[in-house]
Amino acid sequence: MNSNPIALELRNVTKSYGGVAALREGNLRIAKATIHGVVGANGAGKSTLIKIASGVVRRDGGSILVNGMETDLRSVPDALAAGIVAMPQELTIVPDQSVAENITMGREPSVLGFTTTRRSRVIARKLLREMGVSLDVARTAGEIEPAEQRIVMLARALHTGAHTLILDEPTAALNAAQAEVFLRVVSGLRESGYSVVYISHRFNEVEELCDEVTILRDGMTVDRLSKERCRQDELVAAVVQDSALSERVLREKPAQPNATPAIEMRNVSGRILSDISFSVRPGEILGFCGLAGSGVNEVMEFLGGVRSPVSGQLRAAGQEMRFDSPAEALKRGVTYLPVERAKAGMVDMSIRANLVTASLPQISRLGFVTQEMEDAFSNSVLSNLGLAHRAHEPLRALSGGNRQKVLLGRCLLADARVVVLDDPTVGVDVRARADIHELLGRFADQGRAVIVAVSEPEELLSVADRVLVMNRGTIVAELTGSEITSEALVRAATTSGKVGAFEVVATA
Ligand SMILES: Nc1ncnc2c1ncn2[C@@H]1O[C@H](COP(=O)(O)OP(=O)(O)OP(=O)(O)O)[C@@H](O)[C@H]1O
Ligand SMILES: [Mg+2]
Repeated sequence: MNSNPIALELRNVTKSYGGVAALREGNLRIAKATIHGVVGANGAGKSTLIKIASGVVRRDGGSILVNGMETDLRSVPDALAAGIVAMPQELTIVPDQSVAENITMGREPSVLGFTTTRRSRVIARKLLREMGVSLDVARTAGEIEPAEQRIVMLARALHTGAHTLILDEPTAALNAAQAEVFLRVVSGLRESGYSVVYISHRFNEVEELCDEVTILRDGMTVDRLSKERCRQDELVAAVVQDSALSERVLREKPAQPNATPAIEMRNVSGRILSDISFSVRPGEILGFCGLAGSGVNEVMEFLGGVRSPVSGQLRAAGQEMRFDSPAEALKRGVTYLPVERAKAGMVDMSIRANLVTASLPQISRLGFVTQEMEDAFSNSVLSNLGLAHRAHEPLRALSGGNRQKVLLGRCLLADARVVVLDDPTVGVDVRARADIHELLGRFADQGRAVIVAVSEPEELLSVADRVLVMNRGTIVAELTGSEITSEALVRAATTSGKVGAFEVVATA
């Protein structure tokens, strides 16, 4: 074990919500100037543990020690005073404000009570430079890349002056190249003496980055691994335990080559896209990948009916359909899971409300819908997803990954002919990831067309029948069956030479 003094320790911490235990026995010991991983399945209690450590949630029992001294963290300001700050799992960028304003938010520099834009830019620029990142602080935060938004959140955390930083799945929505840049910044923080808690479902990152790892299972800390044991295989075994993950089932019935396409795009051009055409047959799983800015996200948005292109045509089952209308897409049997889940889910509403909005045509065929019917439908979706929650609970009561499963379930279980999913496995644990892949195969076997975009191309190896690789608004490669190898995917996506979403000016 690391011999540095302990920066932060949680002993037998507990937390219940309405009589249900979220955390039964949380233990965590973080040595100074180290990166400490926290892993566990969806709902294991990771976010709850670190919310307690950062004063966001008050513990029911147990103790917290900061630099060896018992400290009662009752609130976020308490935790900040003790030098602890958390960067939450959810994106907390204010989109219409500048990068500088987002970084200094809540601690704006002021002169006679007036905040000054200039001061705030100077501070933001200095912080980013120290992190080794080049990013224009005057830009509007809503317009920068997702990876850059995470960097901005990290800069905001550093601006508080805290020395213990807690990062909850910061790279979940980033592609491999972006995540690498983010990880480089985090490992620079360790060199500068910060203590970092790092939660992730991406075990390759944990292996690469962490000095120690704490394993959580069902609300309990069950193990603590030293550096030598922080290997991907050990981590998978610790989280999944002994039962095997679902393997890729090679589907026997490939799509009928002569069938009318379930959905088709013809000569579509948009903000990024330039003259894109492709079609998907019933029963086929088409994968999309490409680096940030390649246009994949725009393709998904057009298919989902949330935005319309400059020119081109969209056809579902041989008939022309309108873009720009999610309702029309749904009516034509196209369901869509956007990459920005905050837009898709209503956290204050019940699970039932979240499921029923997308599936109403399916359960209202009789012309009326009773609350009992909605409940029965929702509960069957939940049990299909392996979730022990009930329909009336608010979405807020679910862990991040489990919310994700509900939103995915809503797309998959609606009676759709075409399922469009933008990065469906963000934030889900290893087992759920394998289950989701299997589920996609099942849907294709039922004759639906599945279109799936991913941020990690590797993921397509285990799901896609065919892959379109995009670069700068055009399709640069089409791979089928055994042509889909990780090497081919990466080569096709990176031929333009652009690697990450932003450059690193110096290694921090
Ligand atoms: N506000 C809340 N109200 C009720 N239950 C909650 C609340 N927050 C969390 N829980 C429950 O506590 C348990 C632990 O949730 P937590 O968010 O800590 O999991 P997690 O390990 O972070 O999972 P994930 O990997 O999905 O983010 C879950 O069963 C969750 O449903
Ligand atoms: Mg969580």
